Amino acid sequence: WAMYADDIEAIQRLKREQDAVILAHNYMTPEVFHGVSDIKGDSLALAREAQHVDAGTIVLAGVHFMAETAKLLNPSKRVLLPDLRSGCSLAESITPEDIAQLRRDHPGAPVVTYVNTSAAVKAASDICCTSGNAVKIITSLGVDKVIMIPDQYLARNISALTGVEVVTHPGACEVHERFTPLDIVQIREGHPGVTVLAHPECPPEVVAEADFAGSTADMQRYVETERPASVALITECSMSDNIAAQHPDLEFVRPCNLCPHMKRNTLGAIRAALETGGPEIDVDPAVAEPARRAIERMLQVN
Ligand code: 13P
Ligand code: SF4
Repeated sequence: WAMYADDIEAIQRLKREQDAVILAHNYMTPEVFHGVSDIKGDSLALAREAQHVDAGTIVLAGVHFMAETAKLLNPSKRVLLPDLRSGCSLAESITPEDIAQLRRDHPGAPVVTYVNTSAAVKAASDICCTSGNAVKIITSLGVDKVIMIPDQYLARNISALTGVEVVTHPGACEVHERFTPLDIVQIREGHPGVTVLAHPECPPEVVAEADFAGSTADMQRYVETERPASVALITECSMSDNIAAQHPDLEFVRPCNLCPHMKRNTLGAIRAALETGGPEIDVDPAVAEPARRAIERMLQVN
């Protein structure tokens, strides 16, 4: 960690000077996650916590849609995203026009939109969900059929759990779609007794091979309550690194894929954001109100 000391010290000082807090997704590298972050968690926790930030500036160590969500939920704050290129393959897969077409094709079906989308897509939706609350959100609607976009795999995994028919969209997470059932078979062969936890953005046949599926926060809770001696997290690489740092007694088998968007949040980029006051995230006023409504509906359910 000696190589990070200068940046960490500068960031801690800048946070005080700028009245800033850092909200960090679980996929940040350990020096960001454990070194400089104030509020940490999955997409759901970051959305919830963003509402209650008192500081004047939020630095969102995550990706663009997370920064937009923070801005929507706490609009008087300055929200900084260290690198504007931090996108998401799911968010990029869908437009409001795609939703309009789905509504025409499936009249009456509510549109449940994963938070991994732009504010404009959220604005065209009825309610949002995250991987941590998708079952509760779908069940709360009390209908037999929903349009659930844009992650085809999350949609199919949640349909299997709830029995609700889902119409979806061909979006996928570029990190989780790369895992295969064979990956898990090989992990089990190499590590007898290992517990395998998969993210529900993985294809259903991958989830079927796992012992448990859940959001990044669900995975952390599972590890901390069940304390499996050996565990494999089928998700982004930093997830295991961050939990392993807190639980050195547990063995983490690491079959992981990197998210290039998350990895743009280096200490250097965070420091530069605090030094320059940018890039700042704002949301088009034409979509802010309906997008906020879709997120707030979600937070009212869970
Ligand atoms: P969660 O942290 O909500 O499980 O989301 C994972 C993810 O890929 C976020 O981009
Ligand atoms: Fe998007 Fe997947 Fe990266 Fe999360 S891990 S930001 S879902 S591409």
